[in-house]
Formats: sequence, C-alpha cells, structure tokens
Amino acid sequence: MAAAPHPGPLPASGERERVGDTCPRRACGEREGPIAPRWEGEGQRLAIRAPLSAAGGAEIAGLDLSRPLPAETVAEIRAALTEHQFVVFPGQSLSREQQYAFAAQLGPVEAHGGGRPGKRRDVAHVTANLDADGNPSDRFAQGANYRWHTDKPYYRTPPLLTVLYAVELPPAGGDTEFANTRLAYEALPAATKQRLAGLRVVFQWEGGRRPGYYASELPPVDHPLVRTHPVTGRPALYLGNHAVRIAGIDEIEGTALLGELLDHATQPCFTYAHRWRVGDLVVWDNTSLLHRAVANYEMNRYRRIMHRNVVKGPVPV
Ligand SMILES: [Fe+2]
Repeated sequence: MAAAPHPGPLPASGERERVGDTCPRRACGEREGPIAPRWEGEGQRLAIRAPLSAAGGAEIAGLDLSRPLPAETVAEIRAALTEHQFVVFPGQSLSREQQYAFAAQLGPVEAHGGGRPGKRRDVAHVTANLDADGNPSDRFAQGANYRWHTDKPYYRTPPLLTVLYAVELPPAGGDTEFANTRLAYEALPAATKQRLAGLRVVFQWEGGRRPGYYASELPPVDHPLVRTHPVTGRPALYLGNHAVRIAGIDEIEGTALLGELLDHATQPCFTYAHRWRVGDLVVWDNTSLLHRAVANYEMNRYRRIMHRNVVKGPVPV
C-alpha cells in the first residue's frame, strides 16, 4: 500500500525536540504511593479488580474458563478489555483445546501453524524455553519475544487479542511486561501528535533481520503509526521491534523517531510487569499495548512453559 500523505519532512533530529524526555506526571496519574485496585460496581456479574497499574489492567476472579461462558459474561470480558487493555484470570486449569475454545468466544482464533497446510490444529500452541532435547535454554532470550513488540504486526490483519496461559514457571521471574501505547500517545506534546498524523510505519518479521520461512513468505507491510482502537476509536502508537522504518521519510530519520517513541512509550509510568502464577491466563489487546518477555530467571535451569493463541483482528486504521 502506498504511503499516506504526511505533514511534510521532519526537521533534522538536532533541530527538533525529543518526543518524550520525561514521564509526564499526568500520565502517571500523580498518584501517591502504589496503585490500589478496587472492586468494580455492585451490579456487575463479574468480580473485576482494576486498575492493576498505571498502565491499566484488570483481574477477573471466580470464572472457570474451561467451560462455555454465557453471552453476558463474554460481553463483560470484552468490555473489561476495552476499558483496561489487559485482563488477568487467575487460578485456571485448561487443556490446550479448552484454551482455544475460550479464545474462540472472544473472536475468530488464528489456528496454530499459520497458513501452512496440514499444520493447523484447533489448540493453543506451546511456547517454552526448551531446546530440541527438551532442556531449558537461555538462547530464547535472543528472540523477538524478549524485545518490546505487538504480536504479528507484519500481517496485513494483525491479531486483535493474545491469550497466554501459564503452565509451568520458574520459582521466581519469567515476567511479561506491558506498555500502554494509548496512554503514551495521549501524553505526547500536541506538536508531536501533529507530526505523527498520517505517518505509516513499515513492519517486517524479525525486523527483516533473519532470513527464513516468514521472511520469504511475508513481504513488509505498512500500518498507521497512530492507529485507532476498533471499538473506542481512541488513538495509540503502533510500533515495536518489528517496525523497520517509516514510509516516505528518510530511513535514518524514521528509525530515530521510532526509537524515541519506543523509549517514550516504555517508560515506567506506562508499563506493568505481570508476575505470573501457575494457572494465570492473561488476555491483552494488541492494538494499544506493547509487551515483552523478561529473562529475569535462570533460563538454563528452569522451565517456563506457556500456552498461547491469538484472536484475529481488523486491518489497522
Ligand atoms: Fe508476543
């Protein structure tokens, strides 16, 4: 797709202000002390505790996701996701098939195996720090999952939601961090927002660094750098590790801008670290969050086994 028109060339990096040198206090909510999540309204069918952090998040307790859910419950989960961006369901016990069935209630699920014939199965797939012999390994810390990213933005239609379930964990660590790019966008100066309007960002699998199946099958795609939420219409930065350049502007300039925006969006006041417990299932909205796995445990010693699937999304606009 051709690059959309944009406001004009960016000034040289030395001439313009950085996009986010500080963590704006209003984005942090000017809260004193730690966030204290509270239980939401009396009339709710679900027990929702929110926010979990300055970066959003909610916890929904007391649900058994292994069984089909009433339509009203699914609607409340969707509403919680729209409002809080990510939702934690503690204490689950799910087979890979049951996880798939839960995700399918939130929308069409991408079958494991991508487009490869004969590889598609209606189950959550396994993501773990295990090598071909089944031994824990730290080599996975080099992978894209350990850098800030949104899931599969190198598709024309990237996933709306990701569903991740903790099966086996190290004694401590193995966190997943989230960064709220809606709040990060809101906190940008008006002049920066104006500069970003209409820009499109080019994504490629592994940032185009690693040849292989995906690199040959998936040419780069471009999406709005500021995408609007498909339900609320609220704008959020859309970027991350797979973003390679900004369409229509000088590559060095575009890469520098992407780096500055990423630095801005991943400041502590926009982020949340999820410390997993076995049985946690987390659903997150890829349209307005970045995430990364954290190698804060002995990866050569302990196993970290997660089950994952993604719910399909629309073309970003
Ligand atoms: Fe991911």
